[in-house]
Amino acid sequence: MRKDVRILLVGEPKVGKTSLIMTLVSEEFPAVVPYRAEEITIPADVTPERVPTHIVDYSEAEQTDEQLYQEISKANVICIVYSVNNKNYLCSPFTVCVCFRVPLILVGNKSDLVEHSSMETVLPIMNKYTEIETCVECSAKNLKNISELFYYAQKAVLHPTGPLYCPEKKE
Ligand code: GTP
Ligand code: MG
Repeated sequence: MRKDVRILLVGEPKVGKTSLIMTLVSEEFPAVVPYRAEEITIPADVTPERVPTHIVDYSEAEQTDEQLYQEISKANVICIVYSVNNKNYLCSPFTVCVCFRVPLILVGNKSDLVEHSSMETVLPIMNKYTEIETCVECSAKNLKNISELFYYAQKAVLHPTGPLYCPEKKE
């Protein structure tokens, strides 16, 4: 059994990474958020898979590239957050994350702002990168799919399906 799971959120500025974390914790959408949330640890007994889970935020405004690489190398799973109303944001952090061969989750936040799903854009990307375990659309504002997203991330570590996942590489 794993002793814990470390989830890192990355993505372009303002896509809602910090809001997603704070919404998970407080079960309400925060009006104001700092650039970067403190690392939080969810105790084993309140996670679906009964494994302590650390959730780590990233902010370009407060962290260097070096710090980002360090966090990526420590992560067991990376959520690449984009906002569904600006799908251009989807591609930028990929190369880095794919190089580390960590399972990835694509997270389309701000689903409250659009009528249509971004799946058409996401599916070809998922087919191209086998590291991507799954994708989810959510809204921090409407509290939609928030606990699901963190559950999928946990599951990607505990029950990986991707052929490129190398368990021996990570503790
Ligand atoms: P950086 O820390 O600068 O990288 O940004 P971030 O990705 O952490 O985004 P942050 O959580 O600061 O949110 C950016 C803006 O988007 C804020 O004004 C939030 O209120 C807003 N926002 C976050 N999530 C949602 C959402 O689900 N729906 C809508 N409509 N707005 C959101
Ligand atoms: Mg932030």
